[in-house]
Amino acid sequence: MEIKVIGTGSYVPERTLTNEDLEQIVETSDAWIRERTGIGSRRITEAGTTAMAVEAAKRALEMAQTAPEALDLIIVGTSTGDCLFPGTACEVQAALGAAGAACFDLSAACSGFLFSLNTACVYLESGAYQRALVIGADTLSKTVDWSDRSTCILFGDGAGAAVFERVEAAGGETGADGRKRADPDGSAGGRMQKTWGHESRVGPFIMKADGGRGEVLHCAGTPLRNPFIKEETGNKEKGFGYMTMNGQEVFRFAVKTVPEVLEALLEKAEVPPEDIRYFILHQANERIIAAVAKRMKQPIEKFPMNLERYGNTSGASIPILLDEMNREGKLARGDKLALAGFGAGLTWGATLLLW
Ligand code: ACO
Repeated sequence: MEIKVIGTGSYVPERTLTNEDLEQIVETSDAWIRERTGIGSRRITEAGTTAMAVEAAKRALEMAQTAPEALDLIIVGTSTGDCLFPGTACEVQAALGAAGAACFDLSAACSGFLFSLNTACVYLESGAYQRALVIGADTLSKTVDWSDRSTCILFGDGAGAAVFERVEAAGGETGADGRKRADPDGSAGGRMQKTWGHESRVGPFIMKADGGRGEVLHCAGTPLRNPFIKEETGNKEKGFGYMTMNGQEVFRFAVKTVPEVLEALLEKAEVPPEDIRYFILHQANERIIAAVAKRMKQPIEKFPMNLERYGNTSGASIPILLDEMNREGKLARGDKLALAGFGAGLTWGATLLLW
């Protein structure tokens, strides 16, 4: 049995907000933003999270040559759905006509796509489902305080998607473990990596969280109108909707935990870092990515980035980058990709993919 990525897709809104545009809104400069973050512009949606998710999904399904009716599972990693309910995944299901799919959203902020991918693949590995659509989609532009220059410069909107399929070994050799091997000599990109412990193109993963540090990156939800809830509880005093962030804390958290989780994952998979073709990291800040590369003693060229164009698109950043690289022909059969996400929660994690 293998789990394959059979299609990727992404969507970013047309409307572009450049650093120069932001200079008109808050006291900042293109030079400051570029130097501290690497961001040059970001996209802003006028249609919302579901519309972006649907567009990314359609593109992924088209590449996968998979009909929406063939999907068994749709998971959307998002923390900025258009409504509290129904979930974004259900709205995507309705728009696509994927009547047979189980659908739910997964809230893990910027780790949302990674956690959704891992969750979907566990369902596929268990045999419960055959085909899963995994989406990361976020509209952070509606959560930032546009008068707060320390946060509003960072984020943009977008969506990315991937279709995963469980493929049974058909007529392949039987391995030492008694299971069929579809690709006994590894000629199709060497994807039967024994060291990965199972016959899957989706390798092992690690997911972590530290709920005790939720205040570092926080966004209050719907105001609590229930008169029985104590004043000091929940969102009453915090009000709805604006993000607050301790930027330096997030920075420190990211540059410590991302190399740690990547190193732990590579050790678990018995793959040396030199064997990783690309480290596809959540696109939060160029300086964070450069610090991770340095700590891992890996060349920065192995850490692709598109944050200059899109800013931090939260749960969408990893699948947008993956799709762009895929469509640009930068991913070759057999490439080992290490994905790592981090964000509010705090949450963080890493996953290996064998392309
Ligand atoms: N333009 C100009 N000046 C600014 C701006 C701005 N947009 N924002 C802050 N400043 C000022 C500050 O007021 C401060 O001025 P002061 O020295 O007079 O007080 C000065 O710049 C330095 O501020 P710092 O906060 O120390 O700047 P820092 O170098 O830490 O950069 C930043 C700030 C970019 C936010 C950085 O901390 C960072 O990238 N942190 C990680 C944030 C992040 O990635 N968050 C999201 C990740 S998780 C997720 O994706 C949800």
